[in-house]
Amino acid sequence: MKSPDGRRLYIQEVSVRDGFQIEPRFIPTERKVALIDRLSRTGLAKIEVTSFVSPKAIPALADAEAVMRAIDRVPGVVYAALVPNVRGCERALDCKVDEINLVMSASETHGRANLRMTPEQSLANFADVVAVARGTGASINVALSTAFGCPFDGDVPPARVLGFVDRYRQLGIGGVSLCDTTGMANPAQVAALCEAVLSRFPDMQVTAHFHNTRGMGLANALATLDVGIVRFDASLGGLGGCPFAPGATGNVCTEDLVHMFETMGYDTGVDLEALLAIARDLPEIVEHDVPGQVIKAGVSTRRYPRPAALA
Ligand code: COA
Ligand code: ZN
Repeated sequence: MKSPDGRRLYIQEVSVRDGFQIEPRFIPTERKVALIDRLSRTGLAKIEVTSFVSPKAIPALADAEAVMRAIDRVPGVVYAALVPNVRGCERALDCKVDEINLVMSASETHGRANLRMTPEQSLANFADVVAVARGTGASINVALSTAFGCPFDGDVPPARVLGFVDRYRQLGIGGVSLCDTTGMANPAQVAALCEAVLSRFPDMQVTAHFHNTRGMGLANALATLDVGIVRFDASLGGLGGCPFAPGATGNVCTEDLVHMFETMGYDTGVDLEALLAIARDLPEIVEHDVPGQVIKAGVSTRRYPRPAALA
């Protein structure tokens, strides 16, 4: 299928990282691996498999090595992992991740609550991480949390975000994910910032990472599509959230996002039916209902028998 404007979109699955990190019950390693192996075969461009963070900070992902080593890697899929520091980078490289997804916060208070680092301390760490990763073949992306606002500090000026992206470029980092960690952003805001980043840093791969905390996730994704974004993080079932950001809830739901783009005629590369089949099993894996909508309503081409009275 060819998109209306010829653009191919890239859907990047984060449920097993952003989603599972906040799940109250530990999901057994073999269930994580089985889920990732199924997701790998749906046409997703990238899967963020886990986090190489302190197991004390995120006990739900304490099995990072075991998961990363057990998955069956499908050629063409990028297998990424979240990394906060050099220690995490070394662990991730030992497991041969394709991409190091470095994490930092755009705001002081969320940075200190989540990572015990100010943005400047994170940046200093990144220089060391880049040195460790150089020559290993792993690519580096930065997930910039609270890029559109912080639940503690409030507004994050766009100039601050542009300044961080410039630092990444200087470090030789090729990608950035602009993360709306607690769903504070609106479509006008995300369009303006993404456009500014894309025009100032045309060689950077920019990912839109939205949470649906205030129901604006899909609207935000669409607004950034309009200004040229083609990479989107999303989470099966709409799971997700940062345990160190008050009020954080799930990411944009992958199957809802794919459904929206595909019904608009865009090529996401994803087999929606295969994805929905996996989403259907998710409540059983996490042992609770999930926010995804298409899984409940069915795809928009679903038709019902006419009411008997009208037959
Ligand atoms: N992997 C595993 N363990 C790590 C680690 C890593 N990447 N980095 C640090 N640690 C361990 C240290 O060895 C130490 O262990 P010990 O208590 O047994 O001696 C402990 O964690 C504390 O180390 P320290 O360097 O003092 O870190 P910290 O307490 O300042 O915490 C982080 C900093 C970044 C390690 C921690 O805050 C973290 O992992 N945060 C992740 C948060 C997250 O993933 N949030 C959701 C995603 S947005
Ligand atoms: Zn997130």
